[in-house]
Parts: sequence; structure tokens; C-alpha cells
Amino acid sequence: MRVSPLGRTAHERAEEPADAFTQALVGDSTAMRQLRSNLRGLVTGDSSIILLGPSGSGKEVAARALHAAGPRAKRPFVAINIAAIPATLLESELFGHEAGAFTGANRQHIGCLEAAGDGILFLDEIGDMPLDAQSRLLRVLEGRCFRRLGGYGNLPFAARIIAATHCNLVQMVDEGRFRRDLWFRLAVLPVRLPPLAERTRDLPQLVLALARELGVDVRFSDAAMLRLMRHDWPGNVRELRNVVARAAHLANAMHVGAEDASALLHPLADGDVATSASHDTRMAAVERTAILNALGNNDGVVAAAARQLGLCRTTLQDRMRRHGIERP
Ligand SMILES: Nc1ncnc2c1ncn2[C@@H]1O[C@H](COP(=O)(O)OP(=O)(O)OP(=O)(O)O)[C@@H](O)[C@H]1O
Ligand SMILES: [Mg+2]
Repeated sequence: MRVSPLGRTAHERAEEPADAFTQALVGDSTAMRQLRSNLRGLVTGDSSIILLGPSGSGKEVAARALHAAGPRAKRPFVAINIAAIPATLLESELFGHEAGAFTGANRQHIGCLEAAGDGILFLDEIGDMPLDAQSRLLRVLEGRCFRRLGGYGNLPFAARIIAATHCNLVQMVDEGRFRRDLWFRLAVLPVRLPPLAERTRDLPQLVLALARELGVDVRFSDAAMLRLMRHDWPGNVRELRNVVARAAHLANAMHVGAEDASALLHPLADGDVATSASHDTRMAAVERTAILNALGNNDGVVAAAARQLGLCRTTLQDRMRRHGIERP
């Protein structure tokens, strides 16, 4: 049997079916092949799935592929981004409400649990769910039914839950910030999305796929690709997507060199050689400004600002305290 330069046999490489997972989750690294294989094993069944991985690693892509590939594909896929919804509105968004349930509830509202029917309910950024909403969600998962706020009758809950978070929920459970019983309920089928830094051999394929998706023509030289491979990718595939989009604006987009690649990776760098103390002070100032901007852009809603910054709400609250930023 012929062994490919990547260390796998031609037979092994041919084995993977062309399906929603190969289409959506690009990458031929062992980690990505393993991920797709794990996901294929989860498409049937009703148990909750939790997708764990850093920001931009493809959790939402994986959730949508699980829906598209599974028996609920023709049923609704309802996504709710918990970090983007103010805590006071969250329960109404999840459970819905009857007219008159609270001041301002002028008419009946169908929540996500109901809208999901017998499809998929994608609870994105579950690590940002306040503890009281966690208790209510747990009750739904145990009883498979719920009530609209202000309602009397129980409604069945028939959807399958896929949750996702970039937070370390195990640590949050230890710190009392996430309910242990809810964690056990959700973590029946945990899946870890590998960070891009752990699978840099996927970069050439990803660059091609992202350029195609963005409708741009860019070519990275081998030296530029090596430069990308040395980067640590804190923003994962989303960061790479931005790099590809930025590259399309270069005069020599068809021949991106190593120096261009460095500039594309650090678009805000000013070339200053700073001492480490002044660097720290400058970074603190940058962080403070970023927090204030994010709060300003999101009408002072901490959860939404945290989402914009790629932080858990609680992490942002800690940093606000550290920088002496009052909640507006
Ligand atoms: N393996 C992949 N193949 C192709 N595109 C990918 C892959 N992973 C992520 N992407 C792309 O990267 C971007 C971010 O993906 P996604 O929104 O699924 O990340 P996420 O893990 O949900 O991030 P966050 O925690 O910030 O919400 C999207 O544009 C998505 O299409
Ligand atoms: Mg996401």
C-alpha cells in the first residue's frame, strides 16, 4: 500500500465521506479528521452535545453541520447567543412570555425553546448564562417541558440541545459560577474543537477555502505560509479569515510574501521597540480603551461587550474592576 508524504495511506485518506462535515470543516490534519469522525458519531440520538473550544475555532460551523447531517435537518435550527442578550431579557427569549407577563410585555412572545420545535436548539456562549437561568434550563432538561413566562400550561420541549462555549466550564463549576448538575446534563457528549495553532498544517487548505468563500484572489508564497505557520492564532480561523480578507487589498495579492504576511498578522503594530515595562503600560491602556469602546458600542451591556471582545462576561467584569471602569 502506498504511503502518502503526510504519513497516511491512500486508502485511509480516501475513507472519509464527502458530507456536511467535510464541506463545512476544512482541514486534513489528524485533529480535524478526528473531529469530523467524532461529530459523525453524534448526529443521531437525543443526548445533549457540548462544543468546547476557543473563539473562532468553528463551534458554530460544527453545530450547523451536525444539524444539516442529522435526522433533524428538515426541522428548525434555532440559535441563541446568550452572551449577547441582557440578563433581564434572557428568560423571556428562552421561554417566551404571555401578554402582560411583565411591564412592557404587550403581546405573547414565542421563545427559542418553543421555536426550536423538534429541531436543534443551539445555546451559544452557555458559559455566560446567569445562575438563575441555569436552574430553569436544568428543570426543562429534566422534565422535557417548560412554561412561557406568565403562562400556566406546560409545553413539551422536544428539541435536541447543542451548547457551545469558549469558557472553561469545569473551572467555572469549581468556582461555583456554573451549576455542576447542568454541566453533567449538557456534557453527555462533549466535543473539543482544536485551536488553529494545533493544526497549522491545515493553513494552506483553509486559506484556499476562505479565499473562495470571500470571493477574493490571493496567493501566499511558501515563505508567507511558513510565517503564518509560526503565528499562534489567538483568534483561530476567524483571525485567519481576516488575514485573507486583508491580503486581498494588497497591491500584490497574487504574490503575498513573508513580510506582507507579518504585516497582515499585526495590522496595528507601529514598529516601536518598547521596554517591557512601557509595553505593559501600553498594553493596559490598549485593553482599557478596547473595553470602553466595546461598552460604548453595546450601549453599556456588559454581556454584549464581552461577546465583542471574545471574553466571558465574568472575565470582562474582573477586568473592568481592575481598570476601575464603572458599569455605565
Ligand atoms: N474548520 C473550518 N473550516 C472552514 N471555516 C472555518 C472552520 N472553522 C471556523 N471557520 C470559519 O471561521 C469563522 C469562525 O467560526 P465560528 O463562528 O464557527 O467560530 P466559534 O468557535 O463559534 O467562535 P466564537 O466562540 O467566537 O463564537 C467562521 O467564518 C467560519 O466559517
Ligand atoms: Mg460562535
